[in-house]
Amino acid sequence: MPEGAPQNFVRECRAQDVPVLEKAVPTGRSRYHEARYRRQSEGLSTFLIAYLDDAPAGCGEVRWQGPKESDVRAQFPGCPEINGLTVVPDRRSQGVGTTIIRAAEALAVRRGHHRIGMGVGEDNARAFALYLRLGYEDTGYRYLDRYHYTDDRGTRHEVADPCRFLVKSLQRAAARERGGFTI
Ligand SMILES: CC(C)(COP(=O)(O)OP(=O)(O)OC[C@H]1O[C@@H](n2cnc3c(N)ncnc32)[C@H](O)[C@@H]1OP(=O)(O)O)[C@@H](O)C(=O)NCCC(=O)NCCS
Repeated sequence: MPEGAPQNFVRECRAQDVPVLEKAVPTGRSRYHEARYRRQSEGLSTFLIAYLDDAPAGCGEVRWQGPKESDVRAQFPGCPEINGLTVVPDRRSQGVGTTIIRAAEALAVRRGHHRIGMGVGEDNARAFALYLRLGYEDTGYRYLDRYHYTDDRGTRHEVADPCRFLVKSLQRAAARERGGFTI
């Protein structure tokens, strides 16, 4: 690669990425990126960040303890979950989301997992179509993704988004990993 060429890559988020990511994908007072980075530091997850042309283009967290919501976790014990997948608006439809998902799958294979899951909002038809294309299957399990955010005035809002849970078998990804696919 020529010296000074723009860098595109996915890697684990580092402490110095957090403020840069916050600027690109603002979470305001909710400070989601800080919380994700903290969970990674505690060994609970891997917080992936994608860079395109040297600028943060998206992120996603792989939760190794299983799905964030307890009912989903009970239904799919030990199944790692890709959570909080987000791509910077003007970087969408350029393959960034797909690259983060593939990186998460490669990490899961390396840790010996045979499947990986992901929730998608019932009203998010485009993301659902993307995940099906990438080999995820609708398990038929429906649940509420519960989270809160704090607005600029400091008011806390509770949200419960109806979601479907998708799972991908990683057998083929394992074969690809054996063939040398790395992040
Ligand atoms: C869904 C999302 C993560 C996909 O990442 P991406 O980098 O745009 O995805 P890729 O470029 O790898 O694949 C693009 C495909 O994603 C799908 N897609 C889903 N939501 C999309 C959106 N808001 N904008 C563009 N494409 C979207 C489309 O099917 C698209 O296919 P196309 O390019 O042929 O139209 C990203 O678009 C995003 O952050 N959306 C808003 C937040 C969100 O919905 N997060 C998912 C929570 S489960």
